[in-house]
Amino acid sequence: MYKNILKLSAGLLLAAGMTAGPAMAGGEAEVLHWWTSGGEAKALKVLKDDFAKNGGTWKDMPVAGGGGDAAMVTLKARIVSGDPPTAAQIKGPTIQEYDDEGVVGPYNIHAVASAENWDALLSPQVANHMKCDGFTKYCAAPVNIHRIDWFWANKKVLDANGLKMPTSWDEFNAAAKKLKAAGIIPLAHGGQPWQDATVFEAVALGIGGNEFYQKAIVDLDMNALGSSTMVKVFDQMRILQGFTDEGMPGRDWNVATGMVMNGKAAFQIMGDWAKGEFANAGLKPGEDYYCLPTPSNHGYLYNVDSFIFFSVKGKNKIEGQKLLASLMMGKNFQKVFNLYKGSIPARLDVPMDEFDLCAKGSAADLNYSAMTGGLLPSFAHGMALKLAQKGAIQDVVTEHFNSDMSSQEAASRLVRAVKDSL
Ligand code: GAL
Repeated sequence: MYKNILKLSAGLLLAAGMTAGPAMAGGEAEVLHWWTSGGEAKALKVLKDDFAKNGGTWKDMPVAGGGGDAAMVTLKARIVSGDPPTAAQIKGPTIQEYDDEGVVGPYNIHAVASAENWDALLSPQVANHMKCDGFTKYCAAPVNIHRIDWFWANKKVLDANGLKMPTSWDEFNAAAKKLKAAGIIPLAHGGQPWQDATVFEAVALGIGGNEFYQKAIVDLDMNALGSSTMVKVFDQMRILQGFTDEGMPGRDWNVATGMVMNGKAAFQIMGDWAKGEFANAGLKPGEDYYCLPTPSNHGYLYNVDSFIFFSVKGKNKIEGQKLLASLMMGKNFQKVFNLYKGSIPARLDVPMDEFDLCAKGSAADLNYSAMTGGLLPSFAHGMALKLAQKGAIQDVVTEHFNSDMSSQEAASRLVRAVKDSL
């Protein structure tokens, strides 16, 4: 008995020492994120483990909901109540929007970014997304680059039906029609606004082209938003809706990916976090599933996952921010994390040889698109617009997709909604 108590207290001491000791060195971080699917959680664990190994204490704050819409609502509430998390997953112009509210400065991680010369490790485009104070100081750290405009498909199902990966939207429509007739769900989709928006932007890029996407979705040019090209985009959305199944409403994206994995459905249009799910299930591209960009003229819709570091008080939290930022930009971390996540590294100097063919293709396409004007920010994933404009477009897209609204009506509503949001 006595002996047992001794054992217990020794165990407790050890446990206390293990956390309390190094935690002083590494600081603490409450991290708000929306990575709750199998592949996402596996990737995030790399960061959690790295943080703990370096003496940090991680307080997990997951807010489930693909695309992060729910996480952004929770984040807003935390900021409004004056209690920001130490780090929060966030993207694109929303970073600068928060800076404008005065809740990010004095930019605790900028010194780390300068010392590690992040400017030399990132493309200027990615680096700028991470900067506050008039794009002069780092206030966020990037962990990857996701591509949005992808088709994922079950290889067996395609092979059994004599189908190849489609290289035009017409080809896709014809393949989907054939699959439907054979009793297979052509398109696995989850009826959630952000998923509808994800499909919409791939279609807008493909049907409209790079310049159209830039004008309509990034520059919010009213003529482009209400154009006959936009009507055609909505026409294709209506066709796609006909290829989804009755279980679509509310379905999570990873459940839809699961339908492609088990052959219930043939295709999914989704960013390459879907590949994280295939990888997590032990499936291989080219052997079990196919990946191919959705048809476009060398367009590439990018989405950089990043974490913002708000103004926080207390040495421990600031140390935690600095450690996290440094780890996120670690060369080996960016490799291992992205192998699980399905994306490619944001750092330019990470070798791609251990990555699969989808990731290698993504990296090559990104470079090509960057040179030829097709590298464009995803609106559905918060890279192109401020939250109000993003929400305005997403609402119309969802309303159209989930009703029998005409394409013309949808294009007109898009113009009105965007105007009202400005
Ligand atoms: C995206 C995010 C990805 C992935 C996806 C689904 O917005 O960039 O990392 O998590 O949502 O939740």
